[in-house]
Amino acid sequence: MSTNTDLKSLIDRLEQTRSLSREEWIRLIRGRTPELAEYLFQRARIIRTRHYGRDIYIRGLIEFTSYCRNDCYYCGLRKSNKAAARYRLSREDILACCETGYRLGFRTFVLQGGEDGWYTDDLLEDIITSIHRRWPDCAITLSVGEKSYASYRRFARAGADRYLLRHETFNETHYRKLHPPRMSAAHRRQCLVDLKKLGYQTGTGFMVGSPYQTPENLADDMLFLKEFNPQMVGIGPFIPHHETPFAGKPAGTLELTLFMLALIRLMLPRVLLPSTTALGTIAPDGRERGILAGANVVMPNLSPPQVREKYLLYDNKICTGDEAAESLNSLGARMEAIGYRLVTARGDSLNTF
Ligand code: 5AD
Repeated sequence: MSTNTDLKSLIDRLEQTRSLSREEWIRLIRGRTPELAEYLFQRARIIRTRHYGRDIYIRGLIEFTSYCRNDCYYCGLRKSNKAAARYRLSREDILACCETGYRLGFRTFVLQGGEDGWYTDDLLEDIITSIHRRWPDCAITLSVGEKSYASYRRFARAGADRYLLRHETFNETHYRKLHPPRMSAAHRRQCLVDLKKLGYQTGTGFMVGSPYQTPENLADDMLFLKEFNPQMVGIGPFIPHHETPFAGKPAGTLELTLFMLALIRLMLPRVLLPSTTALGTIAPDGRERGILAGANVVMPNLSPPQVREKYLLYDNKICTGDEAAESLNSLGARMEAIGYRLVTARGDSLNTF
């Protein structure tokens, strides 16, 4: 049994050396208490302020297709979900989102979608080139899943700067409990290696409280993040979707998600860390609490309002309130109320290669 003092000194050592052993990660995650979490969040805020001040970077999220060829057991967009409403945005729709976003102050556009072959490499390349030409001062982030090295290279040459691809879970056995047999943790990680090699600012991450996840799995995720050293880390609680095999599984908690966010901030002080939509979905003040645990990015939704309610990875996804790009003013006010400010900037990662 670890005492609080014992675990506090582990947190101090994590802050100083930026790493822990597998056993220490497990001990810290298992032994966490509300008091320890408060101490951890305080340290995480200090580290975050040292590198990024009180600035919060904003990313305009464009969810451009709800079609997906994959069948992940947790995701509402899985192809076996026949009840899902599907849509695709045209090149012109996407450019119109960027136009709106640019006027609102966004300098990063995130093109996210299911793995949808309707968007050929030619079409994606054309969309990226068009955005890059028209808004050369903006960063383009892609989040379109597992592709070949050649495809990733084409997109980079067309002007894509960043790529988000969560590893989901490091442990192969756990990975296989979350995905159908044609997917593997090893292939996913190969994609991440390819992306980094091509010079993308690369983001990875995982769900907190996904079915069958253990503290050992989370420890392995931390060790992987340390070794891979990504520029961005996206984590959020697992939230069940009623039309998936995991409909009856319990959601991940706000408490553990915040704890993991703060641990990541101490381990990778300069990483970009979003306070995610899923966090805002499980608690009304979830996104503020993510910021107060060391996060420094928010990703408001720039998709056309009529499609937002169709991009449902999980139940009750917030899609009408402050998460929307139009409500930037009220999101800004909420962030100012806790002592932070939204900034208009590309917001590149300080965690360099
Ligand atoms: N709950 C929380 N996050 C989810 N994702 C997919 N389905 C869910 C869910 N039910 C996350 C995955 C994916 C990202 C786009 O959304 O981690 O990588």
